Amino acid sequence: KPKMAVFASGNGSNFQAIADSIQRGELQAELALVVTDRPAAFVVERAEKLGVPSFAFLPSEYDSKQLYEEMLKEKLQSLGVEWIVLAGYMRLIGPVLLQAFENRIINIHPSVLPAFPGKDAIGQTLAAGAEFAGVTVHYVDAGMDTGKIIAQQSFAVGGRTREAVEKEIHEIEHQLYPATLQQLFNQ
Ligand code: GAR
Repeated sequence: KPKMAVFASGNGSNFQAIADSIQRGELQAELALVVTDRPAAFVVERAEKLGVPSFAFLPSEYDSKQLYEEMLKEKLQSLGVEWIVLAGYMRLIGPVLLQAFENRIINIHPSVLPAFPGKDAIGQTLAAGAEFAGVTVHYVDAGMDTGKIIAQQSFAVGGRTREAVEKEIHEIEHQLYPATLQQLFNQ
């Protein structure tokens, strides 16, 4: 079974959806580690509850991205991690991890890319008055949400409130991410 590390900075509902999918036997993979750059993030509690090891680090304690990524690379390689799955990890991945995990770093983003990359994609979508909102799963490259697209799902915004749009996005994410990972791992 493919070994994954999930990187998350916040709530971790996508991490939860991935873990639940594994427990149901739908996603055939092993969750080796949760990595967070925010030690107080709720994802750490979720991991604890599920018995998944987690590792928190503070980027500010390192002199450069290169240095903390070298540290992460060693940790992940020592655990035999093959895939990095970003789930609300709010940092760009640098050359050290991109090279060590070439074509094996995946991200989920709450817009129909290439529209609205970067932070607060849902806010950007609504502020622009876009007709469609949605979710993209893509390979990670050095850019901000620019890697090759693997799967997308969209819906008409209509007259929905931000709250309603967010809810729909999360519902889509929680089924699309585990399903897409399973397809990817089976290739
Ligand atoms: C998700 O909506 C994910 O698509 C988004 O952060 C949220 C994390 O939620 N990611 C990005 O915006 C990446 N640029 P979660 O912590 O509950 O999984």
